[in-house]
Amino acid sequence: MEKRMDTAKKGTFIALEGIDGSGKSTQVRLLADRLRKMQIPFYTTMEPTDSPIGSMIRQVLTGRMQADPKVIAALFVADRLDHLLNEVNGIAAKVEQGICVIMDRYYFSSYAYQSVDVPLDWLIQANALSTGILRPAVHIFIDIDPDVAMERIVKNRFAKELFEERDRLAQVQKNYQEAFERLKSTEQVTVIDGNRSQEAVAQDVWNAAARYLLPSGA
Ligand code: ADP
Ligand code: TYD
Repeated sequence: MEKRMDTAKKGTFIALEGIDGSGKSTQVRLLADRLRKMQIPFYTTMEPTDSPIGSMIRQVLTGRMQADPKVIAALFVADRLDHLLNEVNGIAAKVEQGICVIMDRYYFSSYAYQSVDVPLDWLIQANALSTGILRPAVHIFIDIDPDVAMERIVKNRFAKELFEERDRLAQVQKNYQEAFERLKSTEQVTVIDGNRSQEAVAQDVWNAAARYLLPSGA
């Protein structure tokens, strides 16, 4: 009973996942609009972050810096820990203070992207500190055809990053499914069809999130 009261005081933590171009950032924005209207205190954020570690990652993603895949994976791990724990705006403290945190990517991104080059077991172990500190109430996965994602990326961006190539995205998509299957006993995942209008996807994202955000559900 006491434990349940403690949990109620904490903010709900939700992570959105999906391949590049799946519409995560758009959906984080639309979910934020909804939370704002409902006057639910929230904080939106993303990984990689804009910290110094996050900027090293961006240098790798844009090809300005080369590194071994395990070093890249370790940079994401370090960026994630800083994101959780840093004194200025660490999200672990925000959740403790009762703020809902909506995150664009979390450790499933590492499982899906870095497992193109590094074994999934290694990645799960490397991320154990983060999973121990903060596990999302739900990972909302926006499931989209890699061809649709590529169309959106090509149409809307000037420069492509390391992973933004069709076959790579298809592999990452498959890796997400493998990681979800592998961790289904410990992680809560909701899959949403992202090949639809922003509004239709947003409604499903809301339905998935509301179960955890509102004590009595949607
Ligand atoms: P991500 O953060 O997953 O890379 P974005 O939200 O940035 O994806 O979306 C990629 C591009 O596709 C953006 O230009 C966005 O406006 C557009 N977009 C997002 N959702 C949809 C949708 N449901 N249908 C069509 N275009 C979309
Ligand atoms: P992001 O800026 O979210 O790209 P997008 O808006 O296109 O989804 O993320 C940048 C890239 O970083 C993206 O290709 C995914 C990759 N990434 C990883 O490889 N591992 C990780 O752990 C994270 C968080 C991101």
